[in-house]
Amino acid sequence: MCGIVGYVGPRSAREVVVGGLRRLEYRGYDSAGVAIVADGRIDLRKSAGKLANLEAVLAEHPVAETGTGIGHTRWATHGAPNDVNAHPHLSASSRVAVVHNGIIENFAALRAELQAEGITFHSETDTEVAGQLLGREVGRGATLIEAMRTVVGRLEGAFTLVAVDAQEPGRVVAARRNSPLVVGLGDTENFVASDVAAFIEHTREALELGQDQIVEITADSVSVTDFAGNDAPTRPYHVDWDLSAAEKGGYDWFMRKEIHEQPQAVADTLLGRYTPAGALKLDEIRIDEAELRSIEKIVIIAAGTSFYAGMVAKYAIEHWCRVACEVELASEFRYRDPIVGKGTLVVAISQSGETADTLQAIRHAREQGSKVLAICNTNGSTIPRESDAVIYTHAGPEIGVASTKGFTTQLAACYLLGLYLAQVKGTKFGDEIAAIMADLEGVPDKIQRLLDDSQVILDLANRLTDRRSILFLGRHVGYPAALEGALKLKELAYLHAEGFAAGELKHGPIALIEPGLPVFVVVPPKGRDMLHDKVVSNIQEVRARGARTIVLAEEDDTSVADYADVLIPLPKVMTILQPLLAIIPLQLFACEIATALGHDVDQPRNLAKSVTVE
Ligand code: G6P
Repeated sequence: MCGIVGYVGPRSAREVVVGGLRRLEYRGYDSAGVAIVADGRIDLRKSAGKLANLEAVLAEHPVAETGTGIGHTRWATHGAPNDVNAHPHLSASSRVAVVHNGIIENFAALRAELQAEGITFHSETDTEVAGQLLGREVGRGATLIEAMRTVVGRLEGAFTLVAVDAQEPGRVVAARRNSPLVVGLGDTENFVASDVAAFIEHTREALELGQDQIVEITADSVSVTDFAGNDAPTRPYHVDWDLSAAEKGGYDWFMRKEIHEQPQAVADTLLGRYTPAGALKLDEIRIDEAELRSIEKIVIIAAGTSFYAGMVAKYAIEHWCRVACEVELASEFRYRDPIVGKGTLVVAISQSGETADTLQAIRHAREQGSKVLAICNTNGSTIPRESDAVIYTHAGPEIGVASTKGFTTQLAACYLLGLYLAQVKGTKFGDEIAAIMADLEGVPDKIQRLLDDSQVILDLANRLTDRRSILFLGRHVGYPAALEGALKLKELAYLHAEGFAAGELKHGPIALIEPGLPVFVVVPPKGRDMLHDKVVSNIQEVRARGARTIVLAEEDDTSVADYADVLIPLPKVMTILQPLLAIIPLQLFACEIATALGHDVDQPRNLAKSVTVE
């Protein structure tokens, strides 16, 4: 939800900031802008639409090439995504420029206060009040950092602000509450940004900021204080992926690259967690084993794709550990007075580690006395930092807005967690855990086989571009896979796509079936699963009503061939692990159909990768 960058150093701030925005565009792409500090004035350029539009504006109206600047790429909350509402926003005197990520909840009252003093507002944004407040303070003689301290005391809500003052060249000041911000530590240059991706080509040394901190950077200094001005603790860390991991590497889309990275990403997530001695070692788990043994209930909280990973985890955890496990949307959990407390382990799943609803939900759970374990892909992000334990997925940076390798690595981490709890609680013998781990460790090669044999699904996608509606059916762990397949299609192809539990077909969804409607069906492995035959009956039922069936079934499952218009063979794996394989063709299908329809696969309309506002 909005990407922000600030830079001070010897290079062209314009170049560094625009380069940073390019890597943050996944966070929002409604509009973009930069403010460069130049000789006592601020050169401001902004434009609605993607970054390319801003680059065109900069080419036509160049800014001063100095070494201090800030920039923003927006996902609109207050005000339409037009030029005027684009960030940065200036103070009335044009002395201060500010960019913002979050929502200032009391902006209307602040705006009225400033208007009463005669200040004219130009945009509809909540951000402009921050710019005007900062301008008022520096006008009264405050330095930019003093002004920032005063202003954050007036704001309510979630805000990360980055500001420059025309009278203080060589200095960028930022404040962080709830929305992410990291500092990049360079040699005679420093950076602030929503995500390390923005400065990874310049430095891999970073500083993690905490809540309610203010940072001031110059070319050779970084100072971090709390909102009251006291020195604040920070955590330096080294980013262990490089620029190439954040680039497309020959693929047309980041998403397609990320789909193809899944064999490696899943293998990396499993790596080193199962010892040759047969024990599972999840070293980021900082909760007492005795405490884990006494857990009576597990509540999984997540949003979007991560929620579907959580649904799969529920099947695995209850089956392996015999502990009651609920899975709930973070946005629902918080506002319904949930029953959690000491005996409950809350598991928060979040690729970004910044989703506002998930973050607020874990805060609520901890207040009630629950321990929180995060499954997260982003080192240094807020959700793992505020959790009692964390299992990091090792997917590397996920740039495509629709999650792919984020999902499969979350599944891998959920399985590891389930097995770990089974080991701790003694609900599975060591040899049973070993057998499941062996199957799990074989998954990356099987994903690779699916990727290598994907021509059928790619051809199918190109044949179905004229459809307005596509359904997905699954049962047991195939049900969340069906939901995730449908979500990918909604996100990328803007098609009506719905996932259903196959057993519910007769309770309503079957009324949607009409001749020619494509229906994907995820079939449980044959023989080992009593649900197999029931799902095969469901295929026949929709086919009898004219549906065109695309059947994902185990490779030697001959029982489905007669009812499949298109058959996608899945390599053999135990039932509970099947979503790791079934989702691959569904991801490829959505990516391909969206490409064929001419959509921007990496930046679908109206979406953002990291939803840091409610
Ligand atoms: C957004 C993204 C989804 C993601 C969801 C949850 O909606 O577009 O791809 O699944 O947020 O994000 P998280 O980072 O918490 O997993």
